[in-house]
Amino acid sequence: MKKWTILENIKVEKLVFWWKWFARFKSENPDLDWKALFITGWVIPGSIVNLKILKNRKDYIETQCMEVVKVSPIEKKHPDNIYWDQAGSKWVNIPYEEQLKIKAAQVEESLFHIKTLQKDLKINDIIPSPLVDWYRNKIEFSFWKYISEKEHKQEHFNVWFHKQWEFSKVEDFDWTILIDDLMNKIYKEIKDYSKSSWLPAYDQFNHQWFFRHILLRRAFFTDQVMIIFSINHKFNTANIGIELQKATDFLISITKKYSQIKSIYLSLNDNKSDTAIWELKLIYWEKFIEEKLLWITFNISPKSFFQTNSFWAEKLYSEVLNQIDKSEIKNFTVLDLYAGTWTIGMIFAKYAKKVISVELVSDASKDWEENARKNEIKNMEFVCEKVEDFLKNYIEKWEKADLLIIDPPRAWMHPNALPNILKFQTKNIIYVSCNPATLSRDLDYILRNSTYKISSITPVDMFPHTPHIETVVKLEL
Ligand SMILES: C[S@@+](CC[C@H](N)C(=O)[O-])C[C@H]1O[C@@H](n2cnc3c(N)ncnc32)[C@H](O)[C@@H]1O
Repeated sequence: MKKWTILENIKVEKLVFWWKWFARFKSENPDLDWKALFITGWVIPGSIVNLKILKNRKDYIETQCMEVVKVSPIEKKHPDNIYWDQAGSKWVNIPYEEQLKIKAAQVEESLFHIKTLQKDLKINDIIPSPLVDWYRNKIEFSFWKYISEKEHKQEHFNVWFHKQWEFSKVEDFDWTILIDDLMNKIYKEIKDYSKSSWLPAYDQFNHQWFFRHILLRRAFFTDQVMIIFSINHKFNTANIGIELQKATDFLISITKKYSQIKSIYLSLNDNKSDTAIWELKLIYWEKFIEEKLLWITFNISPKSFFQTNSFWAEKLYSEVLNQIDKSEIKNFTVLDLYAGTWTIGMIFAKYAKKVISVELVSDASKDWEENARKNEIKNMEFVCEKVEDFLKNYIEKWEKADLLIIDPPRAWMHPNALPNILKFQTKNIIYVSCNPATLSRDLDYILRNSTYKISSITPVDMFPHTPHIETVVKLEL
């Protein structure tokens, strides 16, 4: 068995990128002395920890936290006495103001060398999330037979979400601060019903038994709920038809108590992978729920991608819109690149002459085309293509654009895309980023290869209790 090298009593300094922390320490060993340590695991700045070395590279060491020896002075019990598992994140024990400081510092640090390229650069104050707790509009709970894979404890019937780094461990709680009171109540009703039915939770190791997932979706601005109850309909019992009918009757019965429930599906699920949505059967009312962000109404079906924090999404999209003078763009063609749900495009369509939204994944396109129709948006074009290919063809055809909005995925923007983006010479580019590290790399390229200057940078907090941070940047020619 491999013997790991353990570093003891290391003080965690800061968050450097998504779920990676940083520390340095003095060592007698010249190979370790003052080298950058990147840490994975549940740590908080100021905690004293023991670390296992995973890889000792030339310039840095990758480590994993084994033990927290001393908790950080910034760590405080959540005001409602929440146990961290109940929130799915240890960040719940960092007061929200401290969470914001950690995130703002991460953006500041990532963009540090950009400041040497543009001396007058100032990063605006971070915009907090309108809600700190119970903001999620979608949650998936799993039924699980074991408390722990290793322990292989069989008798337990648990329902909860899988935790980061401990996928096989499903604990059992009756409510979570991630969702609102109504969603918690509905979750508890379904959980209690499942337990009282005496049918077993699905066994992910042997692929048998019955209950699998509870997936809830919530439209906050219209006060609607969707339930997807996932069960293994191939469960080998003579009474399976009766059990499915009982589950259906039960779910429909709770709509009398919670009038907000507008859509219920059974997911008939004998798929071996741990996925909640399989063969969907609508058993109650509408196929979708409706949500409203700013002035746009969206249909959300079981598979639709939708920003998980609706309140935050409104803040972010308003911030993007605030970057421009709306009256100035009425004759503009706007390119909405990496369009995702096409939301940004739909918002800009109200003010621009034309919006072209480009997105690689076609899965949700039907939904969003329907949404554009529903909102009577007629000046949008949807292109399902890689941005790098789209730009190449678009430029070859000498098509013009007057404003670019870019919201690339966390990992990267294709290296061929950036030079083409600069060719349009639009007065402004609005860059929305969910990764300060790649943002910094791209801004570096833009500042070195064009006459664009950054006119504003604003971090927007997306998910309290997690290290996610969104940044809105306006570039001006
Ligand atoms: C950060 S999300 C954009 C979110 C979007 N602005 C919204 O508000 O819904 C990034 C999007 O880029 C898409 N994507 C990733 N690589 C792409 C590529 N090469 N070309 C086009 N779209 C891509 C992903 O599918 C994802 O929807």
